[in-house]
Amino acid sequence: MRHMRNLVCGGMILLAAAAGARAQSEATTLRGAVDDKLLIGAAVMSYQIEQPRLGALVAAQFNCLTGENEFKVVSLQPEPGQFNFGPADKIIDFAEQHNIKVVGHNLCWHNQIPAWEFADADGNPLPRDKALANLKAHIDTVCRHFRGKVIGWDVVNEAISDSPNEFLRDTPARKAIGDDYIEKAFEFAHEADPDAELYYNDYNDEEPGKREKVLRLVKMLKDKGLRIDGVGIQGHWQMHYPAPSVVDDAIVAFHNAGVKVMISELDIDMIPRRQTGAEVGATEKTGADPYPNGLPANLAEEQGKRYADLFKVFLKHPGYVTRVTFWGTHDGTSWLNDWPVRGRHNHPLLWDRQLNPKPAFFAVLKVLNETFGGHSS
Ligand code: G3I
Repeated sequence: MRHMRNLVCGGMILLAAAAGARAQSEATTLRGAVDDKLLIGAAVMSYQIEQPRLGALVAAQFNCLTGENEFKVVSLQPEPGQFNFGPADKIIDFAEQHNIKVVGHNLCWHNQIPAWEFADADGNPLPRDKALANLKAHIDTVCRHFRGKVIGWDVVNEAISDSPNEFLRDTPARKAIGDDYIEKAFEFAHEADPDAELYYNDYNDEEPGKREKVLRLVKMLKDKGLRIDGVGIQGHWQMHYPAPSVVDDAIVAFHNAGVKVMISELDIDMIPRRQTGAEVGATEKTGADPYPNGLPANLAEEQGKRYADLFKVFLKHPGYVTRVTFWGTHDGTSWLNDWPVRGRHNHPLLWDRQLNPKPAFFAVLKVLNETFGGHSS
């Protein structure tokens, strides 16, 4: 009898020890779980991290931040030669305080740029030399300002055309400068901050058609001896789009082209939509707002499973994906509340509007703990 009691007792001690070990190794935050083996990030606006509860959540959960809007050209240089670094610097200061890395987004895009950068007062493209000078002046000043403060830049954003028969999108920069505006942007960025990593960033570039065009661009830049360190797959996705295998194929293809892969703007749209991707200009006037009071529990669980499936793909090949950044923090901060239809209640992220972690948070945390071992946090 005593022997039995000893066995049970010993068993309980062993069980308790095992539970203790598990509690030790299972992190309770995303950043704790990855233990510096992956950059896990979020896009933020400076006013958001000034909110005490949200600021604390961001500092606890993420080891990397991207400025959602405040590093864009129109924010940093609204008027020629007049730079406004205030809001972006707040993000940098917050990141320094909390030992968080920052990615600069972005140096050249067709959106959120001041009209004067590549066009005259009548809207006609500037002469090439004038447009090139504007591009260089912006990149020079901005990259030098953030030298040593950002780890890398989305140098060119969304330059590939969505139409199957066209390579490049016809942007204001391309109209004024020509196709080599992309090379020039990479060249200027490297000159201004030789230590910064340089990325090309796009949506839908996991799809074979666009993927091949991005691969062509990467090869072109490398053949010209220009620095390109990574490709961003934005990841503005839906519950059933794209298939995980498509994402996997793209990760492998970009890795084989010699660049790091970053999931740079991840969210899972919970309101069905007609279009894929993230063409900001493709807005719609009306559309249903099916979950104004919160996401039904069954859908929240399904979203968690979808996130877990995607994270398993991101982490399948160790070292291929070096960063995963969510495009926002809680659901109330998402751009998807205003796109493609304004003023709706979307639920694409890991925390709800009250900052409660959703099933998606626990699903992602579990995959990260399983993959990296984590440490108590
Ligand atoms: O700053 C003005 C403010 O002064 C004005 O009162 C207000 C009225 O609408 O607009 C404010 O500007 C908004 C800006 O975000 C800053 O909040 C714009 O209307 C709004 O269109 C803009 O949206 C941003 C969008 O890029 C613009 O292209 C989203 O927040 C941002 O999440 C989104 O991010 C892009 C990435 O940069 C590139 N990939 C796609 C992704 C999602 O569209």
